[in-house]
Amino acid sequence: MSTKAWGGRFQKSAEQWVDEFGASIGFDQQLVTEDIEGSIAHVTMLGECHILTNEEVVAIKDGLAQLKVKADNNELDFKVENEDIHLNLEKMLTDLIGPVGGKLHTGRSRNDQVATDMHLFLKKRVVEIIALIEKFQSAIVVQAEEHITTLAPGYTHLQRAQPISFAHHIMTYFWMLERDKQRFSEAMKRIDISPLGAGALAGTTFPINRERSAELMGFSSVYQNSIDAVSDRDFIVEFLANSSLMMSHLSRFAEEIIIWSTDEFKFIELDDAFSTGSSIMPQKKNPDMAELIRGKAGRAYGNLMGLLTVLKGIPLAYNKDMQEDKEGMFDTLHTVVGSLKIFEGMVRTMTVNKDVLHKAVHNDFSNATELADYLATKGMPFREAHEVTGKLVFTCIQKGIYLLDLPLEEMQKESVLLEADVFDVLAPVAAVQRRHSLGGTGFDQVKIQIDHAKTLLK
Ligand code: ARG
Repeated sequence: MSTKAWGGRFQKSAEQWVDEFGASIGFDQQLVTEDIEGSIAHVTMLGECHILTNEEVVAIKDGLAQLKVKADNNELDFKVENEDIHLNLEKMLTDLIGPVGGKLHTGRSRNDQVATDMHLFLKKRVVEIIALIEKFQSAIVVQAEEHITTLAPGYTHLQRAQPISFAHHIMTYFWMLERDKQRFSEAMKRIDISPLGAGALAGTTFPINRERSAELMGFSSVYQNSIDAVSDRDFIVEFLANSSLMMSHLSRFAEEIIIWSTDEFKFIELDDAFSTGSSIMPQKKNPDMAELIRGKAGRAYGNLMGLLTVLKGIPLAYNKDMQEDKEGMFDTLHTVVGSLKIFEGMVRTMTVNKDVLHKAVHNDFSNATELADYLATKGMPFREAHEVTGKLVFTCIQKGIYLLDLPLEEMQKESVLLEADVFDVLAPVAAVQRRHSLGGTGFDQVKIQIDHAKTLLK
């Protein structure tokens, strides 16, 4: 005879190590609050539908309330022999209030129960993630407002391209995060839906009211197909995908932070609180946190790929494979929350080395486009202007100077269209300031952009 909750038809028990392999309590205990919440809604509905008596409902709810207090104080002693969070809590409930606790499972299965827990859990966590994204966005905006007129080299191919406002550069990450935020909230409608009452897969013979239990749990709708309700893990895949894409954004930003912190760039300095030293090289200040975030993008992608692969070949409806949806989800959640918090602090406390940036934009050829545009404005076809400018750049390289250092007479050897006012155009500040096109790096446009961004933050 087996001692399991489902042991009736079994003649012998599995050995401990087999139980351990099948158990999920080691990780699904993180669903304890949601499992109790779901049970309270379920039993309330069972009472309202006269499936359980009032006394039974009161006894069960009282037991669940006691378990909730213990859960909040971390006093529950979960056991592998009780397999998962659902059976652990059911066992604790019956130990507490007697056999009436067994009536809680009327009209439901662990299959709809676990799906319900996951929906409840993610619904709360996604709200928290959105708030953390906003906090990070605010830190970006604060730095951006400080550095609207701080000039910086803009890159393509990691080669100096055109001068830009430093604020414009970092605001790019604001907009990436804005889309991440949108994706998380748009996905919410597929999280905010109740599978409870789907039973094992086919629904139930009890006269339950699924809309009512959904309402009690705060869900906006219910699954229309009981098989879909217990088989669907799309909402978790979406969460992992949205998290992965966001981690790719954080990783790109982390990469720039790392590059900017090098002696070669020195564009920024990270606060000591977000850096680490070396155990052998006393001079080192390493951007470990940024590197870790860049690395953690990898585990987020892994979790996404893992779940997609788990799901791809399983027939309807529930299969135990689906228990594998949890660890990756918890891990990604942990990764995303940690990365957002760290990044917010890192950006809020970093020092932007204005002088280094200033020097950088003055010691390069990133104003070459200005020269070509100048000639084009004077009527020269742009292709020809490009060629003339390229020749002047080459002359400068040979002389070891920059365009602003080239005497006008030298320039005019390539084109008589070049006049004294070309030097105004070549000043990096002019190159930035004059880019007034909507969304461009012109200071006025950056200001407009930041003002717009601020309206999107609560
Ligand atoms: N621990 C299981 C899981 O996470 C709960 C559902 C078990 N259902 C079942 N029929 N074995 O998926």
